[in-house]
Parts: sequence; C-alpha cells; structure tokens
Amino acid sequence: LARTAKPLLEVCRNRQVAVVTTAPIRRRYGAAVRALLQQSGTTPLVISVPDGERAKSLKWASHLYDRLLSAKIERGSTLIALGGGVVGDLTGFVASTYLRGVAFVQIPTTLVAQVDASIGGKTGVNHPKGKNLIGTFYQPKLVYIDVAVLKTLPKRELIGGMAEVVKYGVIADPDLFEYVEQHASELLDYDMTALEYIVDRSARIKAGVVRKDEKEAGLRRILNYGHTLGHAIEAVTGYGRIHHGEAVAIGMQFAAKLSVRLGCCNDEVARRQGQLLNRLKLQAGFYQRVSVRSMLSAMALDKKIIEGRVHFILPERIGQVIVKPVEFKIIKEVLKDFVHEREGK
Ligand SMILES: NC(=O)c1ccc[n+]([C@@H]2O[C@H](COP(=O)([O-])OP(=O)(O)OC[C@H]3O[C@@H](n4cnc5c(N)ncnc54)[C@H](O)[C@@H]3O)[C@@H](O)[C@H]2O)c1
Ligand SMILES: [Zn+2]
Repeated sequence: LARTAKPLLEVCRNRQVAVVTTAPIRRRYGAAVRALLQQSGTTPLVISVPDGERAKSLKWASHLYDRLLSAKIERGSTLIALGGGVVGDLTGFVASTYLRGVAFVQIPTTLVAQVDASIGGKTGVNHPKGKNLIGTFYQPKLVYIDVAVLKTLPKRELIGGMAEVVKYGVIADPDLFEYVEQHASELLDYDMTALEYIVDRSARIKAGVVRKDEKEAGLRRILNYGHTLGHAIEAVTGYGRIHHGEAVAIGMQFAAKLSVRLGCCNDEVARRQGQLLNRLKLQAGFYQRVSVRSMLSAMALDKKIIEGRVHFILPERIGQVIVKPVEFKIIKEVLKDFVHEREGK
C-alpha cells in the first residue's frame, strides 16, 4: 500500500473519493491509503462501519447514504472498500445504488476477500430472513491487492481463506493444489512469497470463471464447490460458531465422498484433499451434535434443490469438477456414513 499504485491513482484522479472501512482496519491501514490517494491530489472522506457481519445490513447501508449525501459526494466520485468481505459487500451495494451507481474500487484486506469476495461483482447485505438476500451484481473498476496486509490477519481468518484456495485447486488448477500441498507450513507461517503466489493464482481463477458467466447462469456454479453442505452447516450451527471456511472444508470433503460413491472419482481424490485440509488445520472440532436430519433439511431449504434432487459440484479429479443432480436418498445415506466416520475420530 505504501508504493505508488498507478491504476488506483488513475481511477481516482480528480475525483471525490470516500473510503469505507472499520475502526481496526483504519487504525492499521488508513494512513497508508490516505497517503496513497494524496499522491493524486485527493483527500478522501473516510467512513467507518462496525467490524463484523452485522455491518452488512440495510441500516448501515442507509448510514453510508446519509454520510455520502451530507458530504455532497457526487455522481462522478469513487467509493473505495478497505477491508474484508463484509466491508466489500456493503460498500459495493452502496456504490451500485447511490445516485444510481458510482465508481467502486476494492482494497481487500483478508485472504477471503483477496481470493474471493472482492472479485466477481456480487454485492449485498443481509436480511433478518437470511444472508445476502438483498444485493446487486456490480463490478469494481479495480481490485487492488497487497498481500502484505495479511501479516496482521488472525490465524483463524487466514486458515478460513485457505479453504477457498483449496477449492480453486480442486475445481480448476491441479498446480495450485500441489503448490499448497508443498507449501502448507509456509502458508500457515504467513510466508509472503507463498501467499502472493496463491492469491494471484486464485484471483485469476475466480476472475476467469466470472468473465465467462457473470450472473451465475452455469459455469459460475462450480465456485460453490463444498458450499452446499457448508452453508447448511453454517445455518444449522448458527452463523459464526463454525467459520465459513471451516464449513466449506467439511462440505468439500463430503462432496468428494459423494463423488466416490457415485463413481465420479476414485478414492485417492478424497484422500488427497482430506490430507491437505488436515495439514491446513481445517478439520478440527467438527460439529458435535449436528444431526444429519437438520443438515438435510437445511440443504432442502437451499435454493439449489430441483425435483427432489440437489445439484452438487463433484470432483472428477484434482483440477476438474462436474455439476450433477444427486437424489436426496443417496445424499442422506452418504451423509450418515460421513458423520458417523467423523464422530468416531
Ligand atoms: N461477494 C462475494 O462474492 C463474496 C464471496 C465470499 C464471501 N463474501 C462475504 O464476505 C464476508 C466475509 O468476509 P471476510 O472473511 O473477509 O470477513 P470480515 O470482512 O468480517 O473480516 C474478518 C475480520 O478480519 C479483520 N481484518 C480484516 N483485514 C485484516 C487485516 N489485514 N489484519 C487484521 N485484521 C483484519 C476484520 O476487522 C474482521 O474482524 C461474508 O459476509 C461473506 O458473505 C462475499
Ligand atoms: Zn465461500
């Protein structure tokens, strides 16, 4: 962030700029971003929202509209999201609706935001009835990533982000998967060279998929690998107790087992993926007392169900997946074994 960011300065030149962030991130990185923008003669308005998921609400969106209007931020201005996925989703939503849309830039500061949330243009806020129910598709003009900010990220957040990186390996990139296998301990030690490699690679995969299917008509669905059961686990356990990445890791392991059961891949794929997730410490503390039945009904409520079948993203091998409707009966059977096996550990 301290170095000159030409593309950022080009987007913001001669414009009013508002930076949306949270207090802890502002304390660490606010000054660097401000200094960066001042190189292009811009003094940004900096607005803080509360840290954590509760900021992703219409209430805080409305707060941002108020602040932007009071500061007379105009149509030709730019909103910058400085923070994790929460700040990015909220700011993107406001950018897409404020004055019918103003330019938007992402400066993601978590691993999840750098490899996933900041890319692809999904914005949104939560509703009391569920997560991400209100939102838009709105592409940022620029996603500006500096992996150095990950140095201060808590370990559990880093590990959660690694689940998405493993996901990209399995759905699209065997080399990335192998790289993570070979550098797992460096990655968990915040080795910057290793982090830069996986962030770059993952961001490109996400951008590539979204470029082909922006509005999730087909291909983009593969990004939901591990998320069908993952979302169900999050919903059943009450959002927050099990982190998203941890739930996705469990979901990916289940999808691999399901794939083996359906004859879509061999056992080796599930074994290799499981071993890697273990090394990344993504398998610890699995859902005691989460019943198979509650997970099944959470999946049934999910939008992916069509004619008694759920569309699952299944690995064929490391680097390739297929989307397949799977009968509820089979899901139930494999899930029972899966839970049983894991509780035994
Ligand atoms: N739009 C999308 O495509 C998409 C994709 C994935 C996730 N999401 C959304 O993203 C959100 C989750 O994002 P997240 O995992 O980044 O969580 P987050 O934004 O809540 O950030 C997690 C925590 O890390 C802290 N933090 C951020 N950067 C830091 C840094 N550099 N150093 C120290 N601490 C730092 C934050 O203050 C926060 O407490 C969810 O709301 C999810 O729905 C959106
Ligand atoms: Zn995810």
